Amino acid sequence: MSAIAIIDFGSQFTQLIARQIREMGVYCEIFSDNVNFETISKFNGFILSGGPQSVNADKDGGIAYEIIKLNETANVPILGICYGQQLICHYFGAKVKEDFNQEFGKTKIKILQDSSIIKDVWDVNSEVDVLMSHSDSVDTIPEGFTVIASGVINHTIAIIVNEQRKIYCTQFHPEVKHTINGSKLLSNFLDIVNCERNWTMKSFIDEQKEKIKNLLGNKKVIAAVSGGVDSSVAAALMNKAIGNQLNCIFIDTGLLRKNQRQAIAAMLKDISMNYIDKSDLFLQRLKGVTDPEEKRKIIGNTFIEVFEEEANKIGDVDFLMQGTIYSDVVESGHASGNTSTIKSHHNVGGLPEKMNLKLIEPLRYLFKDEVRKLGKEIGLSDEIIFQHPFPGPGLAVRIIGDITEEKVKILQEVDEIYINTMKNYNLYDKIWQAFAVLLPIKTVGVMGDGRTYGHVCALRAVTSSDGMTADAFPFEDKSQYASVFWDFLQNVNSIIVNNVSGVNRIVYDITSKPPATIEWE
Ligand code: XMP
Repeated sequence: MSAIAIIDFGSQFTQLIARQIREMGVYCEIFSDNVNFETISKFNGFILSGGPQSVNADKDGGIAYEIIKLNETANVPILGICYGQQLICHYFGAKVKEDFNQEFGKTKIKILQDSSIIKDVWDVNSEVDVLMSHSDSVDTIPEGFTVIASGVINHTIAIIVNEQRKIYCTQFHPEVKHTINGSKLLSNFLDIVNCERNWTMKSFIDEQKEKIKNLLGNKKVIAAVSGGVDSSVAAALMNKAIGNQLNCIFIDTGLLRKNQRQAIAAMLKDISMNYIDKSDLFLQRLKGVTDPEEKRKIIGNTFIEVFEEEANKIGDVDFLMQGTIYSDVVESGHASGNTSTIKSHHNVGGLPEKMNLKLIEPLRYLFKDEVRKLGKEIGLSDEIIFQHPFPGPGLAVRIIGDITEEKVKILQEVDEIYINTMKNYNLYDKIWQAFAVLLPIKTVGVMGDGRTYGHVCALRAVTSSDGMTADAFPFEDKSQYASVFWDFLQNVNSIIVNNVSGVNRIVYDITSKPPATIEWE
């Protein structure tokens, strides 16, 4: 199978390159620029991606130069994008000027000559919209290279190639949608590499199953399954690979959605799971605690304690499975030393260090939608694959103030009505995440002829692509769903207030993230 290695020097767009290549049926991986040459030397083609540095500050050229040297001996194709172009030019002795011809945003380039990299993409003499994002620019053309395109306004060297060496460079970003037809340029590069386009989810599953079997032999694996998409898909894949060597544990914290445990048992019926009810322990430890961080800490520590206890009961466990996915890896800065940590992940943080277990992360190289495809391919239901995210600390961060069993029950009822009604209105799949929050205040109401004094619940529904930023629904799609959503809110409001005793007022949270977060605590 042919595969492409993408070296990331810190560009915000690197993941987009990887996604597009995989969508074209070719396997690729992103590596940081401090990757060991041995790790990548067997790849069939290389993409040197963008980055904020200046080549003039880079003394030895690092992994990029080793790849160019490999090209010298093995003629493996290289595509340099933005900083990648500058690195290649610098290697061949061309001048790269700092703060020269800076461009940020959409601009036009003119195609001057034909080349295999732009075959059927752009015609000679045409002017094309592309996205540039650079301070430094290449000032002189390296020997053996031809200029294929240059900037219309300030004549930036936009595409240069050395067809014989199979080295192609663009100063702009072909991977972003603002570059018209840019993905076709990436596709041409895959043709130049001679990639077979046979990377499918099925081939990935077969490959992973083999890898998992070889890695584990007859060793035991333990997994904490929350019922969320990632841990469920990871467990289902592991289950296919190693069957009963996998020990799945589901811990009921007492802070789950109503009947969540039963729903998960039904959805993951093919996986043998040990259900541990520790709700009394969690609720007792949370008694009287109101500070959000303290709640999270108590839950995290208790979780680890229970998990450890169960692992000891099983005995001789060597591996811990985690449902880490590619965006987690990239966001926490592990795929590249250059992207700053965007958020620290809190799934079952701390477990491996404390328990001395080796980690196995079968979804580590997959994006969220690929995880969903994998889940579908191995037979998980849409109900589990397309469910909204649910945070590890559960309803504890949705009950503002102290947590009691009674409050958990109220919130579970409200949440069930909210989500089921949303599904009845066919809105659930349009919304990235929705939930209810129980507020620590009571307000006055009137029901029948009597005065009430009950809880306020806030409803939240957001659109997002990754949870890093979010908008209150239906902000983005005002015209399409606004009236349906308003009708839904009015209806769900009256169902909740009429059916959940103790709640007499509903408010809707319209704040985006930032400045708010998605969860309230
Ligand atoms: P925030 O509230 O930070 O949430 O905007 C972003 C996304 O992360 C989820 N979330 C968590 N997920 N453990 C998790 O597994 C946690 O401790 C946690 N806290 C927040 C949240 O539901 C949203 O989807």
